[in-house]
Amino acid sequence: MERLQKIIANSGYCSRRKAEELIKKGLVKVNGQVIIELGTKASLNDYIEVEGKSIIKKEDKVYYLLNKPRGIITSTSDDKGRKTVVDLINTTTRIYPVGRLDYDTTGLVLLTNDGELANLLMHPSNKIDKVYVAKVKGIISKEDLKRLESGVLIDGRRTSKCRGKILKIDKKSNTCIVKLVIHEGRYHQVKKMFESIGYSVLKLKRESMAFLTLDGVKSGDYRELSIKEVKSLYSLF
Ligand code: URA
Repeated sequence: MERLQKIIANSGYCSRRKAEELIKKGLVKVNGQVIIELGTKASLNDYIEVEGKSIIKKEDKVYYLLNKPRGIITSTSDDKGRKTVVDLINTTTRIYPVGRLDYDTTGLVLLTNDGELANLLMHPSNKIDKVYVAKVKGIISKEDLKRLESGVLIDGRRTSKCRGKILKIDKKSNTCIVKLVIHEGRYHQVKKMFESIGYSVLKLKRESMAFLTLDGVKSGDYRELSIKEVKSLYSLF
């Protein structure tokens, strides 16, 4: 808690002396209440208005696209002290990831402080495409891929229709690479989908979300979205 005139002066609105004058004139409100007492203390969590204007600027919205490496938690903090996706971004703004990737999953993660956009992107009814590429143990048959595409039961609930493609088959190592385009974001969804038809996922990467890709962003690196990209994301809804 600090003296009101100091908070006002620190915000850059005016000098401390001028702030004192404004307080005495009844032109300062804290949480809607006029304050004329000079010794009054407040904090930045209070809503402070001077001459009818808030002195606390609304935090600017920021948007980062990260290429998450393996071994990083998709969270804002970790009680086991492991590195999180937020630790990889050099910012003082409080940001959080849009959806999550498993500890061992790599690829595209968006981080922002824009709750509205985050909710829109995550809501399955908005049908935002997420492209995953999975290395799978075994050689998946066309029939099995069709089963995935038409929806499988995971945790007692059927997954929505999706699109799949076998990108590569390696008979020697008995593995294949499969692309899956889904718009839901259920817990361990891709791994559980493959498990439900008898295959295990050895490696998983999210390659894109909507029109955003990892182009030009190396593993562990990130970039800010452009204003045009943010507008285009909003225009999807
Ligand atoms: N599906 C999974 O199983 N894991 C992820 O990290 C993302 C989607």
